[in-house]
Amino acid sequence: MKSALIVASLPLLALAHGPNPHQHARRQNLAASAPASSPAASSHASSAASGSPASSAAASSAAVPPAGSTSLFPTPTGALPSVSLASTNPTALPLASIVVNAPSAATQAMPTPQPAGAKPSAISNAPGLPDISTLLPSNYPALDKPPPTDSPQVLQWIQDVQNSGVKIPTFAPTVAGGCPANPAAVADQTRCWWTCGGCTRQTDVTTCPDKYTWGLTYDDGPAPYTPDLLSYLDQANLKSTFFVVGSRAISYPALLQQEYMGGHQIAVHTWSHPSLTTLTNEEIIAELGWSKKIIKDVLGVTPTMMRPPFGDIDDRVRAISQAMDLTPVIWTRISPMATFDTDDFNIHGGVTSVQQVLANWEDILGNVSTINTGFIVLEHDLFQQSVEVATGYILPDALAHQPAFRIEPVVSCLNLPMGDAYIETNNNGTNPLPLSGASY
Ligand SMILES: *[C@@H]1O[C@H](CO)[C@@H](O)[C@H](O)[C@H]1NC(C)=O
Ligand SMILES: *[C@@H]1O[C@H](CO)[C@@H](O)[C@H](O)[C@H]1NC(C)=O
Ligand SMILES: [Zn+2]
Repeated sequence: MKSALIVASLPLLALAHGPNPHQHARRQNLAASAPASSPAASSHASSAASGSPASSAAASSAAVPPAGSTSLFPTPTGALPSVSLASTNPTALPLASIVVNAPSAATQAMPTPQPAGAKPSAISNAPGLPDISTLLPSNYPALDKPPPTDSPQVLQWIQDVQNSGVKIPTFAPTVAGGCPANPAAVADQTRCWWTCGGCTRQTDVTTCPDKYTWGLTYDDGPAPYTPDLLSYLDQANLKSTFFVVGSRAISYPALLQQEYMGGHQIAVHTWSHPSLTTLTNEEIIAELGWSKKIIKDVLGVTPTMMRPPFGDIDDRVRAISQAMDLTPVIWTRISPMATFDTDDFNIHGGVTSVQQVLANWEDILGNVSTINTGFIVLEHDLFQQSVEVATGYILPDALAHQPAFRIEPVVSCLNLPMGDAYIETNNNGTNPLPLSGASY
């Protein structure tokens, strides 16, 4: 597949040497990169891109999906949305290469562990880093499985939750299958189940307070392509919040240290990434407890924020999170049709296309201009495709946005110091920890 606009031959690793984004603030129509697999798709691409000289190239470079694709999901082939970004990274992979079943790009070498005792410059009262050379995966639960609830650690955390004074609502876990499978739970307003209807409580963080402020977040890492994202963030002088999965943290502890020492915020995203409302209280405690513990063991600090996988939270999950000193962070949702989810996670599996992800991003930008607050968007650093669309397109576009965005980790966008991202360094005088608000 050809791209009329983007140099295809540069290797992915060139992302690390990205441009000053502000030098590229002319609008580029990316419809030219859309693979068009049918006459209908071609005519859509050319009509949607009318006015752009690139549009005829788009229609004529129609490409056919690879024959014999073995994906479980059909490669998206229908009419692809046309997108028009203020800026892209000149070293971005062409859109036509950001697809399901893309060959694995070369990964950067994993960092080596930081010296024990090192302290992040972003937090004045941080304890020194632990020595992770002795970290033993066998001391942690099996990867990507819900941790057992009868281990001594989990029994202790269950006791701690009971002793916290936080009242846990007694409603039953939901069953797998989401809203259609749980009509009674959906109808029960007292449950305040975000997944089905977007209910939130005062304690949920869903936006940043200041207009045009973006609380930047990436979920599900650290992972093999996270170093590419970190390189881009470094050269653009951006800091993010990383909602890390415990199973990834024990797998890539030095990478987690690199994120933290680089001034990014680290927060909890469970041990094995389940839908938390489907779990028992004890299972939720095990998921959150083990992810808090691995982060503390690698960084020496314990996060004060968590993101429920899939945004799946209700008042039972909220109460347990509060009892474990974790504030929930979801993403902005201004109406049933406007949830700030790029769907970048689904390019890897072939469920969506990169063009659709960029169209989702443009919808988010349109909605951002209509609200009086800032915003938080769902994005991921687990798969190469998500990192490629972030570093190649979404972040350069955001940096070129007018009016300019303030792009910050969530704790910073809330106008709190980075120290408030962790229990040990939290300023308890100005920022009460979640548990301190418990009713006894
Ligand atoms: C807001 O987003 C929705 C889709 O989520 C989109 O249909 C709508 O056009 C967007 N609004 C603006 C003003 O861009
Ligand atoms: C804030 O309170 C927590 C929990 O009691 C404590 O661990 C932490 O050290 C306190 N923060 C500071 C800066 O003293
Ligand atoms: Zn996730």
